[in-house]
Amino acid sequence: MLSALIFLLLSSTVSSAPLPSSNTASFDWNKINYVYAFGDSYSFIPGTFGESGFRQVFKTFHRFSFTPRQLYTDEIIPNRSSSGGSNWLQYLTECFVGLPAECPRQIWGFAHGGSDIDGALLPTAHDTGLQMSDQVRQWLEYGSYVLPKPAGQTLTTWWAGINDCTHMLNNETITDHDAFLDKTMESYFRLVSVAARNGLKTHLFLTVPPVDRSQFAETVRGGPQAYKEAINLFNDKLVARVAKYTKDNPEQTILSFNAAAFFTNILDHPQQFGFNDTKDFCSDCEDQEAFFWHNVEHPTDHVHRLLAKAIEGPFIAMNCILAILYPILCTLLASLAVNARRFSWNNIKYVYAFGDSYSFVQGTKGHANFSFIGDNLSPEFTPQDLLTNQIIPRNVSKFLTKKKEVAEWGRQALRAQIGLPLHHDFTIPLVDQVAQWVTYGSTVIPHPQDQTLTTWWIGINDTGDSNRNASIANFTTFWETEMRSYFKAVDLASSHGLNTHLFLNVPPEERSPGSLGDPGQLKDHINLFNSVLENHITQFANSHPGKCSPKPLSLPQYIQDDVIINATDAPCFLDNPAEFGFSDVTGFCTCADPAGYFWYTEMHTLIIPSRRALDELILDTGHPTQRVHQLLAEAVKDQLLSVGD
Ligand SMILES: *[C@@H]1O[C@H](CO)[C@@H](O)[C@H](O)[C@H]1NC(C)=O
Ligand SMILES: *[C@@H]1O[C@H](CO)[C@@H](O)[C@H](O)[C@H]1NC(C)=O
Ligand SMILES: *[C@@H]1O[C@H](CO)[C@@H](O)[C@H](O)[C@H]1NC(C)=O
Repeated sequence: MLSALIFLLLSSTVSSAPLPSSNTASFDWNKINYVYAFGDSYSFIPGTFGESGFRQVFKTFHRFSFTPRQLYTDEIIPNRSSSGGSNWLQYLTECFVGLPAECPRQIWGFAHGGSDIDGALLPTAHDTGLQMSDQVRQWLEYGSYVLPKPAGQTLTTWWAGINDCTHMLNNETITDHDAFLDKTMESYFRLVSVAARNGLKTHLFLTVPPVDRSQFAETVRGGPQAYKEAINLFNDKLVARVAKYTKDNPEQTILSFNAAAFFTNILDHPQQFGFNDTKDFCSDCEDQEAFFWHNVEHPTDHVHRLLAKAIEGPFIAMNCILAILYPILCTLLASLAVNARRFSWNNIKYVYAFGDSYSFVQGTKGHANFSFIGDNLSPEFTPQDLLTNQIIPRNVSKFLTKKKEVAEWGRQALRAQIGLPLHHDFTIPLVDQVAQWVTYGSTVIPHPQDQTLTTWWIGINDTGDSNRNASIANFTTFWETEMRSYFKAVDLASSHGLNTHLFLNVPPEERSPGSLGDPGQLKDHINLFNSVLENHITQFANSHPGKCSPKPLSLPQYIQDDVIINATDAPCFLDNPAEFGFSDVTGFCTCADPAGYFWYTEMHTLIIPSRRALDELILDTGHPTQRVHQLLAEAVKDQLLSVGD
C-alpha cells in the first residue's frame, strides 16, 4: 500500500540511526536501471530476435534458448507493441527502439502475447506461445546469469491473468472457477518466489484490466458479464495474495498498481482523458489518439502512455512530493473487500477541510487572512451567513475541488487543547473547528456518505511552537496527549456523518526560509509528530472496521510493509527544484507572481477583532507558493482518482 510505504517513509525519518538492514529494502525509482517484465501481450516488447526468439509474440517462436550474444544484440522494434505503438513499459523506461542496454532504463521483456500463467493448468493458445511459467524458466536458464539485477536498481513487473480468465471461461471442463483461480494463484506466486530466490526482489503487480469492456468480450463464452465476474474474482484473489506475499517476505519490496480501477476510470470518463471512442477500434488509422482500443482487445498507445504516467507518478511522488507532503489516505475499502462500499473521487461533491493556514480558504465572512467564516471570539454564524459566504480567490483547496463544493473550516492550529497558547485570540483551534461545524454547519451543508471527503492537515503550528519549549520533557507523551484531542475531534466529525478522511502530515518546515539557518531540532521534532500521527491514524482505521482499511489505504497500492525510503536521500522539490520548475527554494518573494519560488511570503496587517484596529504587520515566511499547492493537489488527486472504481 502506498500508505504502508508512506508509513515507512514516516518511520524512517524518525531517527537518523542506521536503518535495520536485514529486512528492509529501499525503493527509489530514480535508482532503477533494470526492468524485467513477465506477462502477456499487454507487456510484450517486440524484438528483432523475437522472430525466432523470445520477445516477439506475433511471429513464430522457434527456440527457447538464446546465447548471451543474441540477447545483447536483440533490438527493440519501434511501434510494434500490442498497442500498435509503444507500450507502458517502453514509456516507463523510455526504451522505444534499439538495444535495451543503451536505454535510459533497460527493459528486458520476457512477456509473451497470448500467455497464461501456468502451462500445467492451461495449454498454450498458440504452439509458439510461452506461458508465464515458461517465461520465468527461460529467464532463469538463459537470462539470469547474463543480465544484471543489482539490488535497489532492479524492478520486475508482473501483469498476467487476462488470458487465464478467457481460457478458463472457454474451457468447458473447468466448472469451478473459484478453485481453478486458486490453483492459478498458487502457480503465479510460485513463479514470483522462484524469481525472488534468483535475485528479483522488487516486484510490481498489476491487476487485470476490464477487458470485458472490449469487443473481444462478446467472443468469450458467457459474454461480457461472465468475463467481468471472472476478472473481478481473479483480482480479488490477486490482491489477497499480494498482501500475503508481502507479509511472508518482509525482505522483498512489493508494489502494486490497480490497473483495473485505472482502466475503468478512463472508460467511465473518456472525455476527461482525451478519448472520444471507447467502443470501436481502428487498427490501421493513422491517428488513434481519440480511440481507447487499438484492436479488438488491446488498448492504444495513448492508453499505455497514460498508464505509464499513472504508475510513474506515484514512483516519483514517493521520492519527491510525498517525501515533503505525505498525504495519508484513510478511506473506505476500495475494490478490495467484498461488500465494502466504494470510494470514487469522481463521486465526491463535498469537501470539508479542518486544519491550519495551509488549508484555509478565505471567505467573505471570515477573518481576513485567517478564516472562511467566523473566528474564535465569535464562532457562531447563521445558515444564511454560511450559504452566502463567498470564497475570496486566494489559494489551496481550489486546485483539488475546482467544480466541487467546498465546505471549509480551515483555520489555525490544534494547540489550544494542550497548553500551547493560541497565536491570536481569534484563532480557532482544530478541536473547536469541529465543534463549530457540528453546531452551526452540520445541519446546513449536505454530506452524503459517498459524496463527501474530509481533509485533516494540522501540526505545523504545534511543532513549530513547541520546538524549543524546554518545559516539555517528553514529546512522545506530549504528542500522544495532543493526538487524543485530535482524534476525539475526528471521532466527533465521524459521528456526525463525515466518514471518509484524508490525513496529511507535517511537511519539512525546517526548510522554510523562516527556519533556515537556525532550525534547531525541528526536523526530528516534526518526524516524531508524524510518526505518532501515523499510529493514531492506524488506530482510528482499526477502530472503524469496515469503514477504513486496517491500515490507511490508498490505491494505486504500494503494498510493501518492508520498504524504507530515507526521505533525506530522496530527491524532492527542495532537492531537485528544477525538475519541478522551481529556481528558488530557500528565499521567498512577496511579488504577485512568484514564478520559480517554492516559498511565498506575505506581509499582512493583523486585525485584532477585539480592538478592531491595525495591530501589527506580520511577515509570514512558512507558506509554500501556489505552484506547490498545485503540485500537491495533482499528487493527491492522482491518488484519489485511483482509489476504488
Ligand atoms: C512511432 O510512431 C510515432 C507516430 O507515428 C512516431 O512519431 C515515432 O517517431 C515512432 N517511434 C519510433 C521510435 O520510430
Ligand atoms: C481445459 O482445462 C483443463 C484443466 O486445466 C486442461 O487440462 C485442458 O487442457 C484445457 N483444455 C483447453 C482446450 O484449454
Ligand atoms: C473523435 O475526435 C476526432 C478528432 O476531434 C474526430 O475526428 C472524430 O470524428 C471523433 N470521433 C467520434 C466518434 O466522435
